[in-house]
Amino acid sequence: MSDPILTHFADGILTVTFARAEKKNAITQAMYSLLAEATRRARTDDAVRVLLFKAEGDSFSAGNDIADFIAIGAQGGGGQVVDAPVFQFLRALSELDKPAVAAVRGRAVGIGLTLLLHCDMVVVAEDALLSVPFINLALAPEAASSLLLPTVIGHQRAFEMFALGEPIDGRTALAWGLANRAVASAEVDTVAEGLAAKLAARAPNSIRKTKRLMRDTEALWTLMQREGEAFGSQMSSPEAMEAFMAFTQKRAPDFG
Ligand code: COA
Repeated sequence: MSDPILTHFADGILTVTFARAEKKNAITQAMYSLLAEATRRARTDDAVRVLLFKAEGDSFSAGNDIADFIAIGAQGGGGQVVDAPVFQFLRALSELDKPAVAAVRGRAVGIGLTLLLHCDMVVVAEDALLSVPFINLALAPEAASSLLLPTVIGHQRAFEMFALGEPIDGRTALAWGLANRAVASAEVDTVAEGLAAKLAARAPNSIRKTKRLMRDTEALWTLMQREGEAFGSQMSSPEAMEAFMAFTQKRAPDFG
């Protein structure tokens, strides 16, 4: 099987590409470990000026791999396990003080969207579809999205996105402040690469200090852990198991 996360470094830009297109770039535990490693490298390697997230195939990411959810839920959910690969990635994201850029085509589901809340410049396809269907899966928000999403788009819009799980398109994401540019799907990567190149040419210490001033790393990490408690306890709940099984059996869940 080919590597599901590809990394490429050139001209100050570390590009991380989701490469599991046949599963809509759903993210497994192994992939979170690779993402954590790349994100830590982006912070600690002086040669890296910008981190760029891209994807192969027709979707940015379908979010956490649901087969992994089933396996972890069956083992008791794990509660809040900060050593888990997903938490390593979230911690690395919260600590990243260099610019991150994302190029989003197609579906961005769950962490495929909440990851964008940690990126500083986001380019979406006009027809991209972004959603956070945590409640459809009987789960809870993660990646500090319970704070960051309402902060960016407002409580009512964020609550509707969490509670109904319905997607918004790229044009709406731009209008609501979730993205910097909404462009034709074929142009997404080029526009994102152009922005990353511009950022890579900026004064590196100045841009890092600016990003640090704009984000409270410790508060984000504390919230991620609190969210993890809710997420972890839900993951092994009967209602979440019903939602996961419904997905694999391609039917609607029955929360009776
Ligand atoms: N975890 C595991 N596998 C997933 C997945 C996920 N999150 N998302 C998609 N896949 C798999 C599908 O099971 C399918 O596998 P198969 O070909 O072996 O049957 C393959 O990827 C293609 O997905 P499919 O559902 O057929 O594509 P689609 O274009 O009809 O729909 C999505 C795309 C993203 C809308 C749909 O796959 C989906 O809703 N995925 C779940 C999203 C989700 O709830 N993620 C968790 C958020 S917390």
